[in-house]
Amino acid sequence: MTTAPTPPASRARAAGSAAPAIRAAGLRKSYGDQTVLDGIDLVVPAGTIFALLGPNGAGKTTTVQILSTLIRADDGDLRVAGHDLSREPDAVRGAIGVTGQFSAVDNLLTGEENLLLMADLRHLGRRVRRQRAAELLARFDLEDAATKPAATYSGGMRRRLDLAMTLVGNPEIIFLDEPTTGLDPRSRRSMWQIIRDLVAGGVTIFLTTQYLEEADQLADRIALLDHGKLVAEGTPAELKRLVPGGHIQLHFPTAIEYAAAARLLGDVVRDDDALTLQVPSDGGVHSLRALLDQLDNASVEVGELSVHTPDLDDVFLALTGREPATDQVKEPIR
Ligand SMILES: Nc1ncnc2c1ncn2[C@@H]1O[C@H](COP(=O)(O)OP(=O)(O)OP(=O)(O)O)[C@@H](O)[C@H]1O
Ligand SMILES: [Mg+2]
Repeated sequence: MTTAPTPPASRARAAGSAAPAIRAAGLRKSYGDQTVLDGIDLVVPAGTIFALLGPNGAGKTTTVQILSTLIRADDGDLRVAGHDLSREPDAVRGAIGVTGQFSAVDNLLTGEENLLLMADLRHLGRRVRRQRAAELLARFDLEDAATKPAATYSGGMRRRLDLAMTLVGNPEIIFLDEPTTGLDPRSRRSMWQIIRDLVAGGVTIFLTTQYLEEADQLADRIALLDHGKLVAEGTPAELKRLVPGGHIQLHFPTAIEYAAAARLLGDVVRDDDALTLQVPSDGGVHSLRALLDQLDNASVEVGELSVHTPDLDDVFLALTGREPATDQVKEPIR
């Protein structure tokens, strides 16, 4: 069987959790004549990872900026950390951290100085600020670079410092706007692990991404944003089931078993040389069980089985009629 992606660390804990960390109903925002967000509804349970996926200009950053109190919505019932965004923005600010799409790191300061500056902005006491900075430098593998100017940091180091700065205030909800854009695969994986660890520690993550794989790997739930509307929302598996093209591939140990199965199953894609059959399927548990029961009842032995669900690129194409803008060159992280 093909290996399933690692389930998000948070999924088990997500079930039955209390008040949602983020709730938006009818979120709207326009700039002049341009409607950027056209009535967005979303709910993010506490302790989970929510991924807002969309191509360039879809409105991801605008959503993050509104939910993190940086700009005001035109309309919508918006609650973050149990507080109404328009009535209690300070309470919201106290509960959240934001790592923006473009770095908030000051290039002229060292990594440590950047962290201390954040600690001062958060009014941490003298001793606590040093302690917190040291702790975060260690946690993000920046100890050796701590006293070097941030201008000398690699993209991955800068992104880690950026997130470390967000964590100075111990936020319970973190907004990450394209946390891995521009990073190499290794730095991306290391950022994914940091995000998983944060959620395992009880934090809620709202992230935006253009990378379907990233949403698939990390998120408990994914929403697809296109032209200011959510065109789909669900678990990665649910989204993949929205589009046709999935199948179950069966491999048989002998030609006899293979022929028996082909007769039994009828309308399937055959590969006589490899002794494999592809059975159209939504990839769900029910259809898988039904298929295995059918083979079992006919005493046909299956050698190997793999479930092929369509990937999120297929979902995007099916729902928006376009390929997502995954590989576009974006502005480098500064
Ligand atoms: N301050 C602003 N004034 C006018 N238009 C704006 C402003 N901010 C954003 N927009 C427009 O709103 C739309 C959505 O922008 P936004 O930055 O939210 O997209 P995004 O999904 O984050 O894109 P990207 O993937 O490129 O970061 C774009 O068409 C953008 O030009
Ligand atoms: Mg953006």
